[in-house]
Amino acid sequence: MTLQAAREAAADSGTTKDVKNVTTLYGGTRTRRITVHDIATAKERGEKWPMLTAYDAMTASVFDEAGIPVILVGDSMGNTHLGYDTTVPVTMDEMTLLSAAVVRGTTRALVVGDLPFGSYQEGPVQALRHATRLVKEAGVGAVKLEGGERSLPQTELIVQAGIPVMSHLGLTPQSVNTMGYRVQGRGDEAAHRLLRDAKAAQEAGAFAVVLELVPAELAAEVTRSLHIPTIGIGAGPGTDAQVLVWTDMAGLTSGKVPRFTKQYANLRRTLGDAAKAFADDVSGGTFPQEEHTFH
Ligand code: KIV
Repeated sequence: MTLQAAREAAADSGTTKDVKNVTTLYGGTRTRRITVHDIATAKERGEKWPMLTAYDAMTASVFDEAGIPVILVGDSMGNTHLGYDTTVPVTMDEMTLLSAAVVRGTTRALVVGDLPFGSYQEGPVQALRHATRLVKEAGVGAVKLEGGERSLPQTELIVQAGIPVMSHLGLTPQSVNTMGYRVQGRGDEAAHRLLRDAKAAQEAGAFAVVLELVPAELAAEVTRSLHIPTIGIGAGPGTDAQVLVWTDMAGLTSGKVPRFTKQYANLRRTLGDAAKAFADDVSGGTFPQEEHTFH
């Protein structure tokens, strides 16, 4: 059977991801990193794909082995890993350190590094300097920045320099002090603005657009209007890809998680139970035992 025939048979039987060398983003075999070109062809094929955040090498390696094609080192690290209340305080040093760890922990995923608040708002030259730092020092394959029309000059210059840019629209958490955390794009005017922003990002050369917390119908319309993929978070099922913050997805986050998150595990309970079992063993004198001991 030729590869093409195998692909067609697999596509017919719905088992595309089991066929060797099939180039789907999720499940396809590859001996190299995913590129923005691969992302573009996924949109042409109509493939829906997953993206997760990661902030350290070990977790990133788990997601890489699971076949997650794009890993975002999000500035959500501020909330999830650095103990801040928002993403606003995250610095370039923090972003560079954690992005480098994620790159080292992966061999297949395209790693995207977020440009943190204050690292690109001054203008395109500042944005390019920091995007370049993430590529050179951390080894990321692309950067993400918030804003459509307002970040156009930044996107254009970074893309012209050869660094792929992912745009982030809708709820943009770095603007929490002016925007709050609420659904964006409701009402005709806001919807038109979002559509305009998305087209402007595409025009400026962005290879993908994150749509955060926007009505599903609007996200689907934006998705149909663009030739680059949309990645939804709280944006309904009509986007090309879906992203979740991994600690929300795996149930490690404490307290309330956003309604758009689905929890696929309860790591907080599992990890807490493991810590208590270890503590009980130590205080009861049942750890270490002979097999853990050297003579
Ligand atoms: O920082 C982040 O994790 C993000 C995702 C929510 C898209 O920007």
